[in-house]
Amino acid sequence: MIICICNNVNSQTIETAVNSGAHSVDHVREATGAAGCCGKCQFKVNRIVQDHIPQEQQESACL
Ligand code: FES
Repeated sequence: MIICICNNVNSQTIETAVNSGAHSVDHVREATGAAGCCGKCQFKVNRIVQDHIPQEQQESACL
């Protein structure tokens, strides 16, 4: 499914970026271009990031 219409980035591409270490919207933007134009997709991008960050990374981010 296309998440970022501006830059034609789909959810699989974002998931792959997160799994490769892009653990924030900024990092996903750098890796894929998603959320790099109008920004309307940033909440969807963030949702995918939060859903795919490894659990131990989420816990350490709260400390
Ligand atoms: S839809 Fe993603 S930057 Fe516009």
